Amino acid sequence: MEIAVLGYGTVGSGVVEVLNLNKENITRRAGKDIHVKYVLDLRDFPGDAVEEILVHDFQVIANDPEIEIVVEVMGGVRPAYDFVKECLERGKSVCTSNKELVAKHGAELLEIAKQKRVNFLFEASVGGGIPIIRPLNQSLTADEIMEITGILNGTTNYILSQMHDYGYDFDTVLKKAQELGYAERNPEADVEGYDACRKLAILTSLAYGKQVDYEDIYTEGITKITAEDMKYADAMDASVKLLGIGRREDDKFFAMVAPRIIGKHHPLYSVNDVFNGILVRGNMLGDVMFYGSGAGKLPTASAVVADVVDAAKHVGTNIMTLWSSKKLALSSSTDAMNAFFVRVPAEEKDAAAAAFGTVREVKAEGVDGEFAFVTEKMTEDAFAEKSRSVTVKNRIRVEI
Ligand code: HSE
Repeated sequence: MEIAVLGYGTVGSGVVEVLNLNKENITRRAGKDIHVKYVLDLRDFPGDAVEEILVHDFQVIANDPEIEIVVEVMGGVRPAYDFVKECLERGKSVCTSNKELVAKHGAELLEIAKQKRVNFLFEASVGGGIPIIRPLNQSLTADEIMEITGILNGTTNYILSQMHDYGYDFDTVLKKAQELGYAERNPEADVEGYDACRKLAILTSLAYGKQVDYEDIYTEGITKITAEDMKYADAMDASVKLLGIGRREDDKFFAMVAPRIIGKHHPLYSVNDVFNGILVRGNMLGDVMFYGSGAGKLPTASAVVADVVDAAKHVGTNIMTLWSSKKLALSSSTDAMNAFFVRVPAEEKDAAAAAFGTVREVKAEGVDGEFAFVTEKMTEDAFAEKSRSVTVKNRIRVEI
């Protein structure tokens, strides 16, 4: 079976490497030999064996009837969307790791694949090497998914873990993460939560079978989390994690990405460093958790190649994926109920008690001059209203 790879960056070169390294096993599992006929990239790679199969013109791939599967690992919406759409329309299956593309055009591309009896597969778009898309589509189908809670971004999880374990502040760890190559030079998509938001949009769209627009998901990043916040979290036997949460309550659906304080007994507490973890709650199954490398060359390539094997095994058959383009109306995040950890100046202790009523005080060694507490659960609106009478230094939602 002839395939083509669009993009020879980190993941693209990983895909070629995985196919070479595990060739025998992959051939056995796919039931056929999988051969990379073309790699598309704008760049040249002098001295790399890829030179022999490198093309710069996408049409060479689109026009070649021998190519049955196309791997799209270029990233970004354009031109990836145009290339993927054309491949599907021409009867070629596509496997992608591109979360921006899947979050924005997933429903439409799945519909084209269905009409053309090919497949559009995107296991690597969420959780890197962790199998989560296939379980949602094929294994957890007896359940109503009540909740998905995920640590969906490795970069921010690394930063928060370092802040928690070593007491560093955000800027120091971000710099270190950039030096180690975990964080991009422009880290905005990760640290502002946009990357996690797109991944949550994909997971909730699959869980509920309708389009969840990422623009509708309330998103907060981790840039306002301080070393002092971590000291308080530690004093609570807890840590701060950037969580993407999609939740169903009767006929209402909520989705939010925000940092949260979670206690030692929370299943995601031990998901540290660049790892990802996804906790799924089914109405019959209860909790099931997926853990592993959420990024990186070979883990991500492993998930892409697993999709290639699946596509090779399903030539002429569309693997059903429930994700209609009909929009899922999310309930306003202002209605979501949360407990909050709040820090105010020490002299506002009485004002805080008057505004919030019963609160649990939290003390952290080495942090003075302030009053910190955890509120009862309340709506976001109620919290905003009560906060007006005090000077909030910081506030973090609590999920203990
Ligand atoms: N920047 C992403 C992360 C890469 O840190 O998780 C994987 O999608």
